[in-house]
Amino acid sequence: MSDTQQRKIALVTGAGSGIGRACAQKLLASGFAVVLAGRRAAPLEALEGEARARGEEALAAPCDVTDAAAVEALFETIRTRYGRLDLLFNNAGRNAPAVDIDELSVDDWRAVVDTNLTGVFLCTRASFGLMKRQTPRGGRIINNGSISAHAPRPFSAAYTATKHAITGLTKTVSLDGRRYDIACGQIDIGNAATEMAERMARGVPQANGEIAVEPLMDVELVADALLHMAQLPLEANVQFMTIMATKMPFVGRG
Ligand SMILES: NC(=O)c1ccc[n+]([C@@H]2O[C@H](COP(=O)([O-])OP(=O)(O)OC[C@H]3O[C@@H](n4cnc5c(N)ncnc54)[C@H](OP(=O)(O)O)[C@@H]3O)[C@@H](O)[C@H]2O)c1
Repeated sequence: MSDTQQRKIALVTGAGSGIGRACAQKLLASGFAVVLAGRRAAPLEALEGEARARGEEALAAPCDVTDAAAVEALFETIRTRYGRLDLLFNNAGRNAPAVDIDELSVDDWRAVVDTNLTGVFLCTRASFGLMKRQTPRGGRIINNGSISAHAPRPFSAAYTATKHAITGLTKTVSLDGRRYDIACGQIDIGNAATEMAERMARGVPQANGEIAVEPLMDVELVADALLHMAQLPLEANVQFMTIMATKMPFVGRG
């Protein structure tokens, strides 16, 4: 596709690594123009270069999603360059040290809330405004939740609280978006093999106090699931999808 006007425009946050990178590559290969956001410029620029070499439309746009002014500047870039946004994948996220809540520093708590919740709010807020005013109107927002949006791991107060909060945001945006043709859904992932999930392969604390190695799944499977959600016409929405390593502890009380 040579004409960028023909392409659907997507923004992926946390696009430089892991799930964000795999999903951005999948969207690019499927014909989306993809704006690649994250704090580190180098991996985003590398991804843009690889995509352009394949004839795909990618734009590295370094941005810290916790910074309201930086998010506003990112959306100004999107408006100027593409004039619209069809898909936002709120993927950027982080964790905090695995400690009892009394040992969790206020700075670590705030860093997780700023990234996993306020960052999603800032990008959603800007996308919602753009999608509701653009012609043709509407678009899709997909939030990256987690198995932790349903059940905590030991020592995960900040991460679990923010991922539960994302479920509330997904439902609210899904409801308020109806009148503007904005669909909002959530993908809840369990143990995709990325840097963030590396510790699962080494062994992580379980509810009974044991340390156990957990199974991981290929991150490509997450990208396939995300693409299915992203490619639906706006009349249909995957409200929630849980995709997880089949044998990881979640169902069956363990
Ligand atoms: N892997 C799993 O099994 C799993 C399971 C459930 C949920 N998730 C969720 O999936 C998402 C991606 O995780 P991942 O496993 O792919 O880990 P990852 O490779 O560590 O990806 C996190 C990405 O977020 C970006 N990021 C962090 N803080 C940011 C900020 N303030 N502004 C902009 N970008 C920021 C990072 O890039 P920079 O450092 O360059 O900013 C990085 O590219 C997270 O929301 C995570 O909670 C993952």
